[in-house]
Amino acid sequence: MPETADLIVHSAAQIATCASPDGPKRGAAMRDLGLIEDGALAIRAGRIAAVGPTRDIRARFSAPQAIDARGRAICPGLVDAHTHVVYAGDRIGEFEQRIAGATYLEIMEAGGGIVSTMRATRAASVEALARDAAARLDEMLRLGTTTVEIKTGYGLSVEAEMAMLGAIAQLAATHPATLVPTFLGAHAIPPEYRGREDAYVTLVVDEMLPQAAAWYRDSTFAADGVPLFADVFCERGAFTLDQSRRVLEAGRALGLGLKIHADEFTALGGVGLAVALGAASVDHLDATTPADVARLAASDTVGVVLPAVNFHLGSHHYADARALIDAGAALALATDINPGSAPCPSMPLVMAIACRYQRLLPAEALNAATINAAHAIGLGDRVGSLEAGKAADLLILNTADVRHLAYQLGGNVVERVIKNGAVV
Ligand code: NIG
Ligand code: FE
Repeated sequence: MPETADLIVHSAAQIATCASPDGPKRGAAMRDLGLIEDGALAIRAGRIAAVGPTRDIRARFSAPQAIDARGRAICPGLVDAHTHVVYAGDRIGEFEQRIAGATYLEIMEAGGGIVSTMRATRAASVEALARDAAARLDEMLRLGTTTVEIKTGYGLSVEAEMAMLGAIAQLAATHPATLVPTFLGAHAIPPEYRGREDAYVTLVVDEMLPQAAAWYRDSTFAADGVPLFADVFCERGAFTLDQSRRVLEAGRALGLGLKIHADEFTALGGVGLAVALGAASVDHLDATTPADVARLAASDTVGVVLPAVNFHLGSHHYADARALIDAGAALALATDINPGSAPCPSMPLVMAIACRYQRLLPAEALNAATINAAHAIGLGDRVGSLEAGKAADLLILNTADVRHLAYQLGGNVVERVIKNGAVV
């Protein structure tokens, strides 16, 4: 008697499983996609029951529904491990200022940047924030992203940051993507605290983070075993290393996972802090020193690089992702979608930039956008690879070779998205 499944996807030209049962991929393993030719998956109750050669899967399972994926490549649903997808307004004026020669940090110091999005976000309702973000998540899903980390950080007051968490919860209840919340009260100094930066950090540590942790304890995220992270923007003009340490230590004391924006423009020591505190990830890494590359490589912290930022800011300098992989760091890619430095919903575009400007191979970019990204947000045991027991999150491409995800530029090779076993 064959075992029963709900759905069998079969006859795929190739399946890139990105399988990595023992944690994120490093070094030479980054080039290994765990390919299965003429591959099939059996899906039951939203999860992968088995993956293997079509002949074996069809002999072992019967299912009321089948998808013939002949001539198509299949890969895991993409995981976007760093986003600011909840925001109001845009920064098209700053885009033009930068084209005319202003820099991101100059605009920020002059009271624009993150604080200008803060003004728009504070003025928006939770419903409007969720509605606008849902449209962006829809587009991301069409481009293959099935799991998304989402940060707060455009409220910058207790009330407005909690409203952002409310919008993320509303999205999680209504959108098919799996969402992971991150509390980023320490994203920028709000204008009312200018000159009193330490007092703002005290507000984050004493009031915001405890309220966020209390919100999380009663949330569906906690019930589903999805973590809440605490994050901080460690940068000249944002938060110093000492201030970042205060924020992350407070997050850790509350039992939250940790992340940090480090070395985007200036190396302030954020990598060492992240590694010392056992952070899940350290993100940006554009200005990271060779010593910190080695430190990160020797740790369990995932390095997340965000090359759409460099691209959008018109920079010719990119994080040395090649050195990170070669040193043995667990490297992940993310969009950083936000209205200032990366209005980019597309993980395939990020993979394409990483291949061209950071010298990743397409296979390395795909592992960085799936299994390693899942580890960067604490979901490495649930999503990011096609292995028995994991969520049935997969993409059927309109091409027979998964490398086309990173090779093609500016289009969409994703033909069908299956999320938790259902075609969306
Ligand atoms: O990751 N660097 C800090 N935060 C975002 C930018 C957010 C914004 O400019 O609105 C980033 O690049
Ligand atoms: Fe960011």
